[in-house]
Amino acid sequence: MMGDKARLTKSAFCPIFFTVTGFWRLPFRKKNTFAEGWTSYAAIVENLRAGFARRLMVLAFIEIEDLCFAYPSVHGEKRMALDHVNLSVDEGEFVAVLGTNGSGKSTLAKHLNAILLPTSGVCRVAGIDTRDAARLWDIRQTVGMVFQNPDNQIIAAIVEDDVAFGPENLGVPPEEIRRRVDDALAAVNMTEFRAFAPHLLSGGQKQRVAIAGTIAMRTRCLVLDEPTAMLDPVGRREVLDTVRRLHREAGITVVYITHFMDEAAAADRVVVMESGGIVEDGTPKEIFSGVEAMRKRGLDVPTAAEVAWRLRRQGIRLPEDIVTDEELVTALCR
Ligand SMILES: Nc1ncnc2c1ncn2[C@@H]1O[C@H](COP(=O)(O)OP(=O)(O)O)[C@@H](O)[C@H]1O
Ligand SMILES: [Mg+2]
Repeated sequence: MMGDKARLTKSAFCPIFFTVTGFWRLPFRKKNTFAEGWTSYAAIVENLRAGFARRLMVLAFIEIEDLCFAYPSVHGEKRMALDHVNLSVDEGEFVAVLGTNGSGKSTLAKHLNAILLPTSGVCRVAGIDTRDAARLWDIRQTVGMVFQNPDNQIIAAIVEDDVAFGPENLGVPPEEIRRRVDDALAAVNMTEFRAFAPHLLSGGQKQRVAIAGTIAMRTRCLVLDEPTAMLDPVGRREVLDTVRRLHREAGITVVYITHFMDEAAAADRVVVMESGGIVEDGTPKEIFSGVEAMRKRGLDVPTAAEVAWRLRRQGIRLPEDIVTDEELVTALCR
């Protein structure tokens, strides 16, 4: 995978090559008028300038620019599932994505490891354009996906074989696979279940095995699409704690789609989607202090934020940015 430095060197080299070789005269050849030649020249210079500008800025880990996506339509009429979405996520960020059903969350998630490709616009992950078919495996090794249904994600008959499946497909040597499986199972606290048949596990444990499968691929980013929707409260806690720990200790970038506001409150940043677009983007405190705005969008806020809002309406003086139970208790006991 080409690092930012290598890309920078490469892009810096281009204009030098361009000038020294006389390549700059190319647009003027076979052109009828000087004006036509000049227009092409100006376009090339503009492209170079834009490329330079992007490369000289620190690149975000996920860069989505003006992304539109329409599913193939059966009846002829096309509806944009994603409508001019712009989003950048830095390496190591934990971003929660909220939105009512049909707002485009899963469609967006599927663009992050090239399950879906943009109808127009750009989706770049770790500097790789997801449309670059030659880099598909690089993208799949960079971004791991975990979906809603724990039963659809485990394919092997034994937990450790399932975790080994990804690295085996990448042609990783057996010794290295063994090491990766050990590390991945330890990272999700599932070492003691390594020889279990998946059907003997709870939903939360199965989701942790799915997460281990992506970790064994050494993915730098985890995209989870409602991973706790089918789990009981204990399972939900296990999965969220695992994701938070991986983010905190291993610096994994997390994009976490959820309907549970308490889970979103654990993120660094919350993005709200509506009708295929991003309508809010801020810290959990910024997003959840807008209780009425969230309600208008058909969304809840964490219980503590709701209780604090109701108490404030009754005239009790409380800070506007209460999100967690602990913050509410502290404010009430003051
Ligand atoms: N496979 C599909 N074929 C056609 N339309 C789809 C498909 N999947 C989703 N959609 C439509 O795209 C829009 C966004 O869906 P989705 O990304 O699944 O939203 P969310 O995950 O927020 O519920 C919805 O209008 C949905 O009906
Ligand atoms: Mg969805």
